[in-house]
Amino acid sequence: MQSALKAAPSSGSEDYWTLVKRQFPLADGLIYLNAANVCPSSRPVLDRHQEFLRDFHADPSFQNRLKYDTIEESLRGKLARMLDAAADEIAITRNTSEGANIIVNGIDLKAGDEIIITTHNHPSSADSWKVRAKRHGLVVKEAPTPIPAASSQQLFDSIEKLITPRTRLMAITHVTSTTGNRYPAAELGQLARKHNIWYHLDGAQTFGAFDVSVKKAGCDSFAGSAHKWFMGPLESGVLYIKESRIAQVWPSIVTAKWSDTLKGARKFEVFGQRDNPRLAAFEAGVDFIQMIGMPAVEARLEQLVTRLKDNLAAIPQVHMKTSRDWKLSGGVIKFQIKGRATADVYNTLYTKHRVALAQTASGESEGLRFSPHVYNSMEEMDQAAAIVRKLV
Ligand SMILES: Cc1ncc(COP(=O)(O)O)c(C=O)c1O
Repeated sequence: MQSALKAAPSSGSEDYWTLVKRQFPLADGLIYLNAANVCPSSRPVLDRHQEFLRDFHADPSFQNRLKYDTIEESLRGKLARMLDAAADEIAITRNTSEGANIIVNGIDLKAGDEIIITTHNHPSSADSWKVRAKRHGLVVKEAPTPIPAASSQQLFDSIEKLITPRTRLMAITHVTSTTGNRYPAAELGQLARKHNIWYHLDGAQTFGAFDVSVKKAGCDSFAGSAHKWFMGPLESGVLYIKESRIAQVWPSIVTAKWSDTLKGARKFEVFGQRDNPRLAAFEAGVDFIQMIGMPAVEARLEQLVTRLKDNLAAIPQVHMKTSRDWKLSGGVIKFQIKGRATADVYNTLYTKHRVALAQTASGESEGLRFSPHVYNSMEEMDQAAAIVRKLV
């Protein structure tokens, strides 16, 4: 880092990303590669959370809490701008799972109606549908998932093939957590329009990672979590529902503050008393990520992921389960080491080398999962791969 900077470093320079990294309280020596699960919050998010928590508990009166009405609406507006939606189309939820389940349980469907999911959907958009199907006689069809995808067309075709006149909804994962396939969101949006099918997009692995536009994706609903790539507070999330679809969704939870006249997607966030300070932290999260800018976040993620994939793929014993093509993938990198038990390597990486990651212990997605983000350095992409190389 230069001692006397003449101009602010731009997002094209390593100096800039060193400054970004300093905004996170990650432990020294820890190479944190698990963004797909939970990200650390930035200091601005933590500071605002702490500030509002103290203020709340110093004076929990109704009067002191009035400020949260303003914060909530400000947050809604910022989330809407971030996702290219209208404020009335945004519900502030607790996570992706809740958003998905609001859709699963909120839409009128009848016996024989068909729902398309994929074999790699997260349980919140798979088991949830299977439970509803059992209750109401729906038919859930699962598109097989290639590992890795050879092309966007292959992924598109796997969904299109399952459409029949009885299809009512498809729940697609934008980028899968299992092996990091990126589904062609916009093309699937056109497909859904053509057949008049509800299109739910699971954005757990793209909200805060990609510069998502729900309009460009053409989805009817989109759910994300603040505690993943967005780097916000735990147990916060967003659910977008397209304006023309809102009237078709029944609320799953109805309690105090409910009213039939609640405007837009607000009727899906009536959960009883909420953790108000968390909403203030969530707002700081939008400010922080928008200060970098989503196009810059996405471009940096591509750089980090490409470097790490190139490094890993150069190790002969490594079998990549994620496509090396950025257009077919996202922040998730899944790989296996030939001749080594996944769980052993997973444990050794953390306990001996301070590399935090995720694993799938068995099945077709078995392997080690690295998911870097903007608080990681390029150097860490080299160090992590060098450690793997030593272990094989
Ligand atoms: C694709 C996908 N969908 C949904 C979820 C659920 O996220 P949350 O636990 O934040 O609700 C996850 C979590 O890893 C995920 O990867």
